[in-house]
Amino acid sequence: MFEFSDRVAVITGGASGIGLGLASKLAEEGMKIVLGDIESAALERACESLRSSGADVLGVQCDVSDKAQVEALAITAYEHFGNVHFLANNAGVVSRHKAWEGPDDWDWVLGIDLMGVIYGVQSFVPRMLASGEPGHIMNTASTAGLLAFPGIASYNVAKRGVVALSETLHHEFAKTALSVSVLCPGIVDTNIGTSERNREGIEYKPEPDKFLPSEGKENLTPDEVAEIIVDEIRRDIFWILPHKHYGQQALEQANRRISGGTPVMPHIER
Ligand SMILES: NC(=O)c1ccc[n+]([C@@H]2O[C@H](COP(=O)([O-])OP(=O)(O)OC[C@H]3O[C@@H](n4cnc5c(N)ncnc54)[C@H](O)[C@@H]3O)[C@@H](O)[C@H]2O)c1
Repeated sequence: MFEFSDRVAVITGGASGIGLGLASKLAEEGMKIVLGDIESAALERACESLRSSGADVLGVQCDVSDKAQVEALAITAYEHFGNVHFLANNAGVVSRHKAWEGPDDWDWVLGIDLMGVIYGVQSFVPRMLASGEPGHIMNTASTAGLLAFPGIASYNVAKRGVVALSETLHHEFAKTALSVSVLCPGIVDTNIGTSERNREGIEYKPEPDKFLPSEGKENLTPDEVAEIIVDEIRRDIFWILPHKHYGQQALEQANRRISGGTPVMPHIER
């Protein structure tokens, strides 16, 4: 079982939403925190707020789609705290487009949601293995990593890739001191609906309801998700599904695979 207390966590996309909720929970559990995020003002605010609750926090501006910046994040984290025991590859964005649309959207979303996670693994895992100490990687996918939602093609592909990468790591971590989990939430009340606020080269117009329903039966808060994450990692759970009904839908999908059926159309509980 992974022990959180007196250890060091790095969280990408930690200035908002699930990442910030997790940072706050991990600080409560006695961890020292490195927050990486592309958005500098939000990062500063998040660090200040965590420090005011007594947390030991370092903020590092980092664009996870840039391999060199993720490597710099690792170097800074190890220089500052000496070691890293927990990595949440959490930064993510979404863009609405069909599979045959949005050439720039594919590059933007896959660069952050998939390559960002791969860069995190490449920069941190060798260092974590070399330390010989227990460590945990939590990759944030989505229910979109299990089932394909129409209209967010690049997000589905990136998140399915994150699930595959996490399953691979699980096998490759056998007989090491490292473990891995993959977070697959449904709807969480965060700023993901305004992802394009951090996108270069576009004129950003706030449309918070463009991607996600603003309220519904299944909406969870980031703090609720953070509680679930810590509980599930304590229980060595690999697939962390805060919304269990998606597990049932994924099961139906698996059954259809062997019965010759078509893919399940995922449904959100409203
Ligand atoms: N909110 C949901 O309903 C939901 C559901 C399933 C999965 N997720 C996943 O949860 C993760 C966190 O998203 P959230 O919902 O908390 O959204 P959010 O927008 O509140 O937080 C995402 C954070 O990532 C940061 N970020 C964006 N691009 C970045 C980059 N290139 N480099 C570093 N940081 C970057 C943002 O500045 C922000 O602080 C994402 O991977 C998202 O796909 C969210």
